[in-house]
Amino acid sequence: MRYLFILLALFLLAACNVYRPLPQVVGAAEAWKTKVLPPSPQDTTGDPAKGFDFLVHGDYIGSGVPLEIMQSAAPKMPQDRPFPRNALNEGLPYFMTAFTAPNGAKVANGNCFTCHAGRVNGELVIGLGDSFSDYESSMVFMGTMMRLGMSVKYSKKKDLQPAAFEDFSNYFRRMAPKIKTTQPGSNPAFRLAEACMMHRDPQDLTYVDSPLYEMWDYNIATDTPPLWHVKKKNTLYYNGIGRGSMPKLLLQASVLGTPDSSHSRTSVASFRDVYAWLLTLEAPAYPQEIDQALAAAGAPLFTEHCSGCHGTYAEDGDTYPNKVVHLDLIKTDRLYADYIQQSGIVDWYNSSWFATSSPASRFEPTDGYVAPPLDGIWASAPYFHNGSVPTVYQVLNSAARPARWTRSGDSQDYDWQQVGWNYDPEPKNKQWTFDTSVPGYSNQGHYFGDKLTEEERWSIVEYLKTL
Ligand code: HEC
Ligand code: HEC
Repeated sequence: MRYLFILLALFLLAACNVYRPLPQVVGAAEAWKTKVLPPSPQDTTGDPAKGFDFLVHGDYIGSGVPLEIMQSAAPKMPQDRPFPRNALNEGLPYFMTAFTAPNGAKVANGNCFTCHAGRVNGELVIGLGDSFSDYESSMVFMGTMMRLGMSVKYSKKKDLQPAAFEDFSNYFRRMAPKIKTTQPGSNPAFRLAEACMMHRDPQDLTYVDSPLYEMWDYNIATDTPPLWHVKKKNTLYYNGIGRGSMPKLLLQASVLGTPDSSHSRTSVASFRDVYAWLLTLEAPAYPQEIDQALAAAGAPLFTEHCSGCHGTYAEDGDTYPNKVVHLDLIKTDRLYADYIQQSGIVDWYNSSWFATSSPASRFEPTDGYVAPPLDGIWASAPYFHNGSVPTVYQVLNSAARPARWTRSGDSQDYDWQQVGWNYDPEPKNKQWTFDTSVPGYSNQGHYFGDKLTEEERWSIVEYLKTL
């Protein structure tokens, strides 16, 4: 009997931190179907060139692995050189940045392009989400080995490296068990932020050992959005949660290693430049031939059926309505939106230095998803916030969406007709198999193309290539 109680207690303990869908409020759908998300005042006076230089050479991550260790590993990493590097970063891959830590040690860490540079048609595109990121294997072992390696290599008191590694190591240890995903290509950035913030004092942002809120025991991850949409957006993130000052919101990506809020304060000015750089980013042009007559036939159909949510696109200027669409209308997988509304990070953020110091940012989750701009949509497959649909055509024909789809892993393996990834419906190489039966990754919803004829769908697909 006693054991039964212990078992029950253990079960309850485990159960209270498992994700649960929010209770559905009857009649809530009538309250709103789509909402316009208003702009916040933004400082757009930054310098784009300085912003880009800061993204690839700046010290916003604050701490990291000793540069000499990273340099010895670099030759085994991808060798693309999409932009020039400064002397300290010579030889490092594009997604790593070497910088001088506050105590003077030279360290390196991942930069924004770890996730925000991706490959399509054989080319690396800066600003495209990396749909070939794979977080399916646990990083816990890697974290342990890093700590062990550090203690063996740097034992002398005068070594600066261990101190410059400590913050990064603390957060790595905390986030590593939380970000192992169940789908290839899915990015656990939100969980990573949750796990790091959970161990930061909200005001001075220093490391605290005991967690400040609970995290649900479900590793939800998403597709990584292209950065060239930022210039049209009043809010950031799939559910429009990111409000207020954009530079302040962008700074959040440094949660993995920034030592404290005084370090973050110095980065805010540079993130104003980063925002200015984001405002200059353009979607890549479609690289194949476009059937102009077919695209012209698609244009008025797009205006009629799609523009109300996705905006208009014209030589003399675009419009973008910044609408969030309620879950009951969009009907795409609701787990991510529900999850965020229940996350402890929301209250943490709104009482933190990010929200209480100027310029202020805040988190306001919604029960919907933002209808994104469609510039460069040809390049950013797979589609929807959870990356569950491999091609644009299938976004417009829900019956054609595959339950499971396996990519070859080669970014040249692209379907130029349906526009998106070529795939095999049966798993051949487990590594790139996306399974829509896993909670959070369903390919349902967005049925707006179902009422169209095949001819109309193909003309809209052709039109979308021109955006
Ligand atoms: C670990 C991977 C990762 C890193 C590193 C990362 N991001 Fe992201 N980023 C994501 C993912 C995934 C999302 C989508 C999350 C969401 O919208 O809910 C995202 C969303 C964004 C958005 C919002 C886009 C939109 O359309 O709403 C911006 C802007 C952004 N990131 C900028 C940055 C910058 C700048 C950096 C570096 C300082 C950075 N990110 C570092 C993965 C990453
Ligand atoms: C009522 C608003 C609404 C209408 C009408 C609408 N969409 Fe959408 N669309 C959305 C929302 C919201 C999303 C994001 C859904 C998600 O990520 O779960 C989306 C996503 C998409 C995507 C995938 C974007 C990406 O980056 O993953 C494409 C492509 C798209 N829509 C095309 C269209 C086309 C073409 C039409 C017209 C036939 C259309 N939509 C009509 C709201 C709408």
